[in-house]
Amino acid sequence: MAETGQKIETVGVIGAGAMGRGIAQVGMTGGMTVLLFDAMAGAAAKARDAIFAQLDQMVAKNRLESAAAEAAKARLSVAESLDAFKAADLVVEAIVENLAIKQDVFRQLEAIVRPDCLLASNTSSLRIASIAAACRQRDRIAGLHFFNPVPLMKLVEVIRAPGTSDATIATLVTVGERMGRLPVVVQDSPGFLVNLGGRAYTQEALRIVSEGVATPAQVDAVMRDNWGFKMGPFELMDLTGIDVNFPVSQIIHEGYFYDRRLATAPLHQLLKESGQFGRKTRQGFFAYDEAGKGVVPPADATTAAAPAGRVVLADADDEALGELLRSLGLEVSGFDDGDSAILCAPLGEDCSTYAARLKLDHRRLFALDIAGKLDKRLTLMRAPGARRDLFDAVVARLHAAGRAVVTIHDSPGFIGQRIAAMVANLGCEMAQIRVASPADIDKAMTLGLNYPFGPLALADAMGLETVHTVLTQLQDITGDDRYRPSLWLRRRALLGLSALTED
Ligand SMILES: NC(=O)c1ccc[n+]([C@@H]2O[C@H](COP(=O)([O-])OP(=O)(O)OC[C@H]3O[C@@H](n4cnc5c(N)ncnc54)[C@H](O)[C@@H]3O)[C@@H](O)[C@H]2O)c1
Repeated sequence: MAETGQKIETVGVIGAGAMGRGIAQVGMTGGMTVLLFDAMAGAAAKARDAIFAQLDQMVAKNRLESAAAEAAKARLSVAESLDAFKAADLVVEAIVENLAIKQDVFRQLEAIVRPDCLLASNTSSLRIASIAAACRQRDRIAGLHFFNPVPLMKLVEVIRAPGTSDATIATLVTVGERMGRLPVVVQDSPGFLVNLGGRAYTQEALRIVSEGVATPAQVDAVMRDNWGFKMGPFELMDLTGIDVNFPVSQIIHEGYFYDRRLATAPLHQLLKESGQFGRKTRQGFFAYDEAGKGVVPPADATTAAAPAGRVVLADADDEALGELLRSLGLEVSGFDDGDSAILCAPLGEDCSTYAARLKLDHRRLFALDIAGKLDKRLTLMRAPGARRDLFDAVVARLHAAGRAVVTIHDSPGFIGQRIAAMVANLGCEMAQIRVASPADIDKAMTLGLNYPFGPLALADAMGLETVHTVLTQLQDITGDDRYRPSLWLRRRALLGLSALTED
């Protein structure tokens, strides 16, 4: 039986591919002795050479002392068979993603390693419980899920299966830290934490484009400029590869028994089936030139229309919108002369619903998204049948005020509110179903996906009531259960609490 904080000196790594060699490297630089084994002849020796070259490069870039690199190299041995793992305190498996093969390897390991040796799998899509089901002693089995490329990605998910002991988890957290990683403890659930949490950003973007609301370039521009994401959802999918992210979406959707909130769009499958995988095939949502540079169509509306003079506020009490429009140099009136553009700033509502609800002229009613950062770019939305001359005149005025303008078709929640609310809602749902602690959810999502903030901090920044309103409007207008707010969000919104409030 493993003890809390058990000392791990020797780590066996099985599988010397992309992940196994990274895990070996961080184990070596973390001061542990590493035994590396691969079933393919010569693969482990090739991996050793690649790791040594990596360490040399780190020395050349002054990121590692030469003596430390030499000491790390001396700690690695290539194992000729699994028998060498008799000496291991921990074995990390990083072989092919196949349950039957992994179970077979774990069964073999059980017969070789000491009773106090911990066994961990780096699987990204299988349940740890399914792998452990092949073994007799399950308290020492857990997941240790690293991210690619391992030496650069600081996050490691420590996965707790139903049979895993607290002592095993505690020891693996310490090992992760010694390897220079930032561990989070995660339940054994489909997609674990980061792969699940990452679904909302890309999949809601796919739905927006599928509904004809906006183009991929427009969605990306809004998420970068208004919401601070380093990459838009479409450039991100093109980078990770649609051959990778489509199956992950499918596995997670199925794993949660087809929860509508996790469904992707047919467009995702279409690209996968057509072999347009993104950067690696030089065509995905965008085209890529030989140097790998994206050929992205313009996101912004261009118009030669004369700028609008005066605009009418749909809601005379909407101070935030009035102030924004005035700061952009527009003449704002509360009185409708029957000919001017009417502007509104709805939360989670589309232009059509807004016009019908307030009995406004839908041909002259345009909606501006005032959520997110507004210093660079604005999103203007219109209902079907809108007067284009008037719409273009408002766009021209916003341009004249120095803003890029994304013009979109009618959509409850525009682009930004909709995607941000879905990211926040999924973060809340992960907290509700105890995938990990609220703080660890935010930590993992910022480290693993390079998000500018965690989903729970995003919910707090938007305001929980606002997120809840956006979602319930989306749910009412579309009739789609996809927008059902998490109870975690609803309760904290009702009580005026932070999304990070534990219970
Ligand atoms: N690549 C990623 O981005 C990534 C990220 C996180 C987790 N993972 C998971 O890590 C694991 C490995 O992925 P990878 O990308 O390194 O794969 P890979 O194909 O690069 O490497 C797998 C290695 O395992 C070896 N192997 C296969 N069967 C074996 C066996 N029975 N015994 C010993 N060695 C065997 C292969 O020869 C190969 O060298 C998978 O479970 C994968 O889901 C991958």
